[in-house]
Amino acid sequence: MELYDIGLIGLAVMGQNLVLNMERNGFKVAVYNRTRATTDGFIREKGAGKQIKAVYSLKDLVGLLKRPRKVFLMVKAGPPVDEMIQQLKTLLQPGDLIIDGGNSFFQDTERRSREIESEGYLYIGTGVSGGEEGALKGPSIMPGGSPEAYILIEPIMKAIAAKVNGDPCVTHIGPRGSGHYVKMIHNAIEYGDMQLIAEAYDILHRGLGLSAQELHQVFSQWNEGPLSSYLIEITSDIFALTDGETGQPLVDRILDSAGQKGTGKWASQNAFDLGIPIPTINAAVEARNLSAFKREREKASSTFPVTSLSYSGNRRTFTEETGDALYASKICSYAQGLALLRAASSEYQYDLNLAEIARIWRGGCIIRARFLDDVSRAYQEDPDLLNLILAPFFREALLQRQKAWRRVLKTAIELAVPVPAMSASLAYFDSYRSSRLPANLIQAQRDYFGAHTYRRIDREGIFHTEWKK
Ligand code: 6PG
Repeated sequence: MELYDIGLIGLAVMGQNLVLNMERNGFKVAVYNRTRATTDGFIREKGAGKQIKAVYSLKDLVGLLKRPRKVFLMVKAGPPVDEMIQQLKTLLQPGDLIIDGGNSFFQDTERRSREIESEGYLYIGTGVSGGEEGALKGPSIMPGGSPEAYILIEPIMKAIAAKVNGDPCVTHIGPRGSGHYVKMIHNAIEYGDMQLIAEAYDILHRGLGLSAQELHQVFSQWNEGPLSSYLIEITSDIFALTDGETGQPLVDRILDSAGQKGTGKWASQNAFDLGIPIPTINAAVEARNLSAFKREREKASSTFPVTSLSYSGNRRTFTEETGDALYASKICSYAQGLALLRAASSEYQYDLNLAEIARIWRGGCIIRARFLDDVSRAYQEDPDLLNLILAPFFREALLQRQKAWRRVLKTAIELAVPVPAMSASLAYFDSYRSSRLPANLIQAQRDYFGAHTYRRIDREGIFHTEWKK
């Protein structure tokens, strides 16, 4: 009987494209989907004439795999993953490997990997980024699990991953839930990037009155410089597309209410748990939340009409400065995401290699960017870097753009264009580089009303004062 290299469960678009990618790279894949019609449709169309075997039961899937068996789950995150694992465990044998490639919550992956490994099976929870196209042509892959588990899947992952200068965008991230943790931070940074770009668009469009065609040009130009990235590139494309029905730029016809599946929110929740400030990312999550209140916003916009929306300065210079503000804000956003990774690495004993993580984000994933070469280099030069903004390259980049950054934010505030993420980045910068913050007053207040005590700058010890004399 012919045996297969890997079995994949879950034939939604991402699952289908991963199968096609594996097959193209010479692996024989057996596939199963709960709904038979989906499997049949896949084999009839995209999978036709390929080394892909469709099966209609988990028993048949497991029976067809080379040992140790490798089963790749691309099912919906949450209870469906647990259900599938329960069923698979009755069919697999110790030493076989289950890989969860969905956007699972990292604590679920922690629990699952401990349970499954204690029963003798191997487990990998892996982030897979790049959307549909990435899955097909080469995603960035973030696998977490034991080294024994990773070795089994490494050849397939290296083959299917995106390549940057021949380097596959995959690395063994660390144990247990670390792969899904890193994917969660990737998504949080993705939220930050998207919101910062949206704010730059808002400043230029609503504030300066640039048309979609002009925005297309500005973003194309930005894509040639230090901002060069997948998200800037697709944003430029978006501005170029006209709606067939109305003849208007399609982007103007889209309802301004952003969706989300939860990975950004998880990162914010986790950052609060670990006590790590990620204000730009939090602002991005909250901006999506606020956008959803469309009706209320419409009502409030007639209560508080904006009257002073016109910019009188040099539009060309200001557009360039908006690019500077975007780049400086982006540096601070990544600094926050990476600081959270650093804290999580010690909290959860993940032993993360930040240079490697930045390296595998250079290609395939949604946040892929030229910028990540510089991030990776900064951590190669100093693996113990306290904060990205302290790396010489980024220090210079911030110092060069600081004035423009402040000017753009001042103008946005005057024009009443909301800039929650950009201003959170600037406040992060100004707070982080302040040797003295007003927290002395907060400590005094806490001690005043609750005898919470305080420490002094000039003496050791814990102090309390009877403030009301
Ligand atoms: C990726 C993306 C992907 C994510 C979507 C939607 O890396 O390929 O991060 O995993 O699920 O972009 O996320 P939201 O619906 O939360 O915006």
